[in-house]
Amino acid sequence: MSELTNQYWEDLAQAQAKLKKKIENDPWRLAFHQMPETGWLNDPNGAVQFNGLYHLYHQYVPDDPDGGLVHWAHKTSTDMVHFQEEDLFLSPDKPYNKDGVYSGSAFVKDDEIHFFYTGNVKHPGEHDYTFSGREQNTVHIVSKDGFTVDYEEVVIPHEDYPEGFTDHIRDPKIFEKDGIYYMVLGSRALNHRGKILLYESADLYDWTYKGVFIEGEKEMGYMWECPDFFETDEKDVLIFSPQGLKATSHEFENTHNSGYYLGSVDWEKAKFIPDSDFKELDRGFDFYAPQTFEDESGRRILWGWMGLGDISPEYSNPTVARGWQHAMTLPRELTVEDGKLKQRPLTEYQMLRVNENEQSLSIQDSFEWEAQNQKSFELIITIEEVKDKLSITLKEDTVLSYDNHQFSLSHGPSGFGRSERTVEIDNLTKIHVIADTSSLEIFLNDGDYVLSSRVYPKNERDSILFEGYSELSVVKWDLKS
Ligand code: FRU
Repeated sequence: MSELTNQYWEDLAQAQAKLKKKIENDPWRLAFHQMPETGWLNDPNGAVQFNGLYHLYHQYVPDDPDGGLVHWAHKTSTDMVHFQEEDLFLSPDKPYNKDGVYSGSAFVKDDEIHFFYTGNVKHPGEHDYTFSGREQNTVHIVSKDGFTVDYEEVVIPHEDYPEGFTDHIRDPKIFEKDGIYYMVLGSRALNHRGKILLYESADLYDWTYKGVFIEGEKEMGYMWECPDFFETDEKDVLIFSPQGLKATSHEFENTHNSGYYLGSVDWEKAKFIPDSDFKELDRGFDFYAPQTFEDESGRRILWGWMGLGDISPEYSNPTVARGWQHAMTLPRELTVEDGKLKQRPLTEYQMLRVNENEQSLSIQDSFEWEAQNQKSFELIITIEEVKDKLSITLKEDTVLSYDNHQFSLSHGPSGFGRSERTVEIDNLTKIHVIADTSSLEIFLNDGDYVLSSRVYPKNERDSILFEGYSELSVVKWDLKS
């Protein structure tokens, strides 16, 4: 029985129709990134490829660009570039999810997709610190096609979680190891530390608590959201989004951050043992709550929520007034090479390239590369030599600069309050910029670092300005929708 009335759906449709009018002519709608059809988008959920078709679900509030009651939106693609908006997959229409179908993931077994998500229920009054105030139920869904729900059951009701935690236990992600299924869940413990819980199952239906997979020290924040674990030939990778992390010099400077450990698992003790520092996944302003999946060709693909990262008081997102907010990053392939995590955009987007233009630039002071499309384009800058500070001004007022082993991204007014992010990098040889109408993703040295940022130009420049003394070779493409 649905808890949502006909009135609810009528009101929602009306609100959406109003938002659609605002969105219609918005030049900041993205050309080749995934966005909410109307309203608000947050975390990627249930990313999966099933019988060839890619599915991306996401946290979605159709009727309010400022967020609210979350549903799961659903988009499908055959090529990871062109996506189709499908009907809503999940709505908060059950007693155990009535205040939000929170984040979760997908796992393919035999001919079915098993989804796991958090059913969020808020009780009146305080619901952040006490068990009585909030329920976060772990729910299991089985679907034969990714479009319809064939079976749905609460597999870990909120009262069955172990002692020692606040109400915040959520975001199930599943993996398999030697024929056993495991679930990781993010949490905030009663001592306000982040912990990841590990559950085990032989069949995906019955789950047993194994213990804490890993827990953080105080400086690692008070709550860990959206855990994700996968193995590679070299190392195991554990990703999560800790809240309350302390900024270090140039790292974790956003309000909310996501990062990873490389390491291995002691399966006897069911513990993850990091052998790297915790590293920030994306060094720009807009990145949070990423999720990975393995596609049918064996690639490990990550989507991040291109939003939330930096929500300092100086920043306001101007698309809210235009009926929508937030987007996904481009999908990236993750690999571990020589002990390092690399992130590269999935190559499929290259089918959007048109108007290739190549230049060898010997910059003496400054050079304006004129008549550039600044809306959606790609630049690959190979650096032969930087004799004196290189700076590249593009879009409206965004500056990329490199000097003395520091790469910086800074926005002027088109950043709507964002200033600068810096990466220390010894030998910068390649800057790869993928620009959409209101986003920038910058990959340094073939995926060693990525900076993702939303930017809202009112008047694009008609040139790309290069300054400093340097030898570069540059290739540019326009990217079509
Ligand atoms: C992360 C998050 C998740 C939660 C979801 C709710 O952004 O807070 O932990 O499941 O968003 O929308």
